[in-house]
Amino acid sequence: MKKVWGLTSIIVGMMVLGACGNSGTKNSESSTEVSASNQLEKIKQEGVLKVGTSADFAPFEFHTMINGKDTIVGADIDMVNALAEEIGIDEVQFVDMEFNAVLAALDQKQVDIAVSGISATEERKKSVDFTMNYFLPEQKVVVHKDNLDTYKTIDDLEGKKVGAQKGSIQESIVTDQLPDSQIVSIPKVPNLVIEIKQGTIDALVLESAVAESYVGQNDDLAIAEVELVTSEDEAYAIALPKGSTELQEALNEGLQKLIDDGKIAEFVQKNTDLANENAAK
Ligand code: ARG
Repeated sequence: MKKVWGLTSIIVGMMVLGACGNSGTKNSESSTEVSASNQLEKIKQEGVLKVGTSADFAPFEFHTMINGKDTIVGADIDMVNALAEEIGIDEVQFVDMEFNAVLAALDQKQVDIAVSGISATEERKKSVDFTMNYFLPEQKVVVHKDNLDTYKTIDDLEGKKVGAQKGSIQESIVTDQLPDSQIVSIPKVPNLVIEIKQGTIDALVLESAVAESYVGQNDDLAIAEVELVTSEDEAYAIALPKGSTELQEALNEGLQKLIDDGKIAEFVQKNTDLANENAAK
């Protein structure tokens, strides 16, 4: 009897939802818009925003010990927490994974959004939507301090091993801008940093704030003079499933406020300091 009731209420529930869906402006709403408005509502109702991230990318997302507990912190983390509060979502759950898996996790609906210093490239826009940009990085080459005078131009890196994070745009930056170098793709940024320190790779392409953070944490590393081209579509944005119009609008509204109030820059600075302090310990 109970089972029958459960089933009946599901059917009634579906009918009610169906009725709501149709009660809007007739025919003018596309089906994607309807499901998007449901998605924002769904997150709000559940009270949890699931965020995919690769916490290997100080100062945007990284692990640190807080009161003896391993915690994911960073500028992206502060930003998402502020956005959730603004939108009225009670809890944010960060799901840590390799960067290479972040957009796939979004695609497979394992997470609601992906926030991981993700560059909103045209290529990625084919499979996911993005919010407005919130940070424009520059591409930098990191080397061992002892090699700072050896690697000054792109030509100096000819035949050398240059690291890039697997699945990141740095892979194509190495292949396009340093075509005579040998690319070494590694899933996690801290492992790339270890390779440089040990001399198993010669250079590493990282984005400005991240390069500065890891150089700040490791006094045997330095940013080389080598100049790489940075393009507009390398700017960071939040990735969300295609057609999530309502969620996108809510996030954009919140982001605009954070940008106008200088909060993003503040989060980046605060977390750069935090990463440096922890490295010094
Ligand atoms: N901005 C680069 C990209 O989107 C690198 C991002 C890496 N992020 C990370 N959390 N490891 O490809």
